[in-house]
Amino acid sequence: MKKPCLPERFFAMPLTRFLLVFAATLLLALALARLLPQQTDLSVDVERDLPLYSQPFGKARPFYPAELTTPDGKLINWRAVPGARSCGECHLQETLEWATSIHAISDLDLVYDSTVRENNSASQAGKAHGLEKGRWCEGCHNPLGVLAGAVTPANSVQETEAMEEGTSCIVCHAVNRAEPLAGNGALEMDINGVFRYGHPALLAAAPSRHAKDMRARREQPLMGDSALCGACHTEIRPTAVNGATPPMNLQDTYDEWRHSPYAKAGVQCQDCHMSREPAAFVAALKRGETPKKTVSHRFVGNNYLLTETALPSSLLFALRGGSPPGLNRLYDRKTFMAELEKTHQSILALLKEAAEVEVTAKALHQELRVQVAVTNAGAGHALPTGPLDQRYLWLEVEVKDRFGATIFHQGAFDAVKGEEDPSAVRWMKEVRDIHGAPERRHILFDAHTLHYTRKPIAPPPNRPRGLPRAPAGYPP
Ligand code: HEC
Ligand code: HEC
Ligand code: HEC
Ligand code: HEC
Ligand code: HEC
Repeated sequence: MKKPCLPERFFAMPLTRFLLVFAATLLLALALARLLPQQTDLSVDVERDLPLYSQPFGKARPFYPAELTTPDGKLINWRAVPGARSCGECHLQETLEWATSIHAISDLDLVYDSTVRENNSASQAGKAHGLEKGRWCEGCHNPLGVLAGAVTPANSVQETEAMEEGTSCIVCHAVNRAEPLAGNGALEMDINGVFRYGHPALLAAAPSRHAKDMRARREQPLMGDSALCGACHTEIRPTAVNGATPPMNLQDTYDEWRHSPYAKAGVQCQDCHMSREPAAFVAALKRGETPKKTVSHRFVGNNYLLTETALPSSLLFALRGGSPPGLNRLYDRKTFMAELEKTHQSILALLKEAAEVEVTAKALHQELRVQVAVTNAGAGHALPTGPLDQRYLWLEVEVKDRFGATIFHQGAFDAVKGEEDPSAVRWMKEVRDIHGAPERRHILFDAHTLHYTRKPIAPPPNRPRGLPRAPAGYPP
């Protein structure tokens, strides 16, 4: 009989084996734990961490006049903000689609950027605490910057790419609550709370935990509800901005939807605007069908300028405020431009479904009477909607005789002046200054009164047919 050699004897000893297995497990656990980001306290204490953060509206409301908030009411940690690029490592299609959307540039878009600066620094109301008052604008256009404390006169946090991405992935995918009627960005977002589980290795190991963290629709019903969108698509200038009472309603998209037959039939903002084929979805509703719901992140609306691929690309990128996150890392320029063009075509197609125009002409003695009726045929809210000094509708009418000569022309666009004919029929809400003069530059800080040239057109009460009614009391 052969004598057992040393190792064999070693393993034969039950206690030693137990200790070895124990030590190996411990080592493995320690190695895994290193994968976790340091579990330090992420919370930001203004006094301790950002002593220069300016709070003219009181310490209890660091984000005011924006209505954004966090579960503990404190600032988020700027290091904890995941950028779209990090999501794009795994969700490439969603990221590409979103990168072509207006949401991806809601902070950087040149028109917004210059307008917010002018409000903050060149307006009457901006003379005192202009930048802090600008948190009102930034709460919707640049929510992560506001939450991280970047919107303050003394630079105290580092502006990261992730923080400047406007309405980015994590803005919608970390929401706990929304108050759409309060508006001004009234969302509670738990950015710090999802950070610790965001490591790719952990996330791959526990995808269902990740799906829950990211508010998969099956976990967070709010994701499928207009209230999520309504929090930012309701804009009310608070008294704090310039002392004016009552607060001034500037955008009512959510409220318009809430009173529309679409709300009663349970058709949400997402159903139309996050459909893969928004125009086809709306057309099917109009035919009285029940179209299938699909999901895309293009957020097709009406701004076709910022997706106009026919523009020289340097101009287009300048208007969009730079190149998209992930370019040349996740996708190349050609792929991006092709996606941008798809979004552009979807916008044009949706706009064509929005209105119906009916023209009737009657000759009466020596007079020709032309009647033009415009119906809101496909928008789930008023037509137009949004900031109606910027997003408005006008009518161009041209009447020709039988020889093709123009006998009447109203509403033409003057490309040199960059304006439509002032006598045009316009559906617009003018912002007027203290002298009653129209103010076209969106200086909302100093807006004195609002004036409808014509009220926007409500959706017809008989649409959509074909869909069951929502339960009584919906929407709240
Ligand atoms: C390492 C790869 C990876 C990264 C990075 C990643 N995800 Fe995911 N994500 C997944 C996987 C895999 C699933 C599928 C899990 C499931 O549904 O069980 C998923 C699921 C989701 C879902 C739920 C989808 C559903 O079924 O409704 C959402 C929402 C989501 N991720 C958003 C994000 C966002 C936002 C980011 C960036 C902050 C992100 N993900 C980063 C891999 C990733
Ligand atoms: C404006 C809000 C908003 C933004 C910004 C946003 N999402 Fe979403 N996302 C949603 C909503 C709402 C849904 C659920 C749609 C539904 O099921 O009706 C969703 C669904 C998803 C899903 C599940 C897809 C599916 O087919 O069911 C993934 C994955 C996802 N988002 C990832 C992302 C990523 C990645 C980004 C950034 C590049 C992003 N989202 C940006 C609102 C948003
Ligand atoms: C954090 C605030 C925020 C949330 C939440 C949000 N939006 Fe937006 N949305 C904006 C801002 C700001 C813009 C305009 C950006 C610009 O023009 O610079 C915008 C633009 C849009 C546009 C494009 C408008 C145009 O002129 O073409 C559409 C469509 C849209 N949002 C739909 C939605 C839908 C649908 C949801 C909900 C799933 C949603 N939004 C949620 C802030 C938000
Ligand atoms: C029945 C489909 C439908 C629903 C539901 C719907 N919309 Fe729209 N939306 C449209 C159409 C069509 C347009 C293009 C016409 C226009 O510009 O108003 C549009 C345009 C927009 C625009 C940009 C256009 C503008 O006039 O400034 C925004 C922003 C928008 N919708 C947001 C929302 C929000 C937020 C909700 C939910 C509260 C919503 N929509 C619900 C169909 C819909
Ligand atoms: C409640 C959220 C909210 C607030 C607050 C807000 N905006 Fe907006 N803003 C939006 C949305 C949503 C749109 C686009 C809606 C649409 O197209 O119908 C928009 C569009 C704009 C546009 C048009 C952008 C373009 O490229 O055409 C400008 C400029 C703008 N906002 C500037 C401002 C300024 C300046 C302030 C503050 C004085 C401000 N916004 C406050 C939500 C908001």
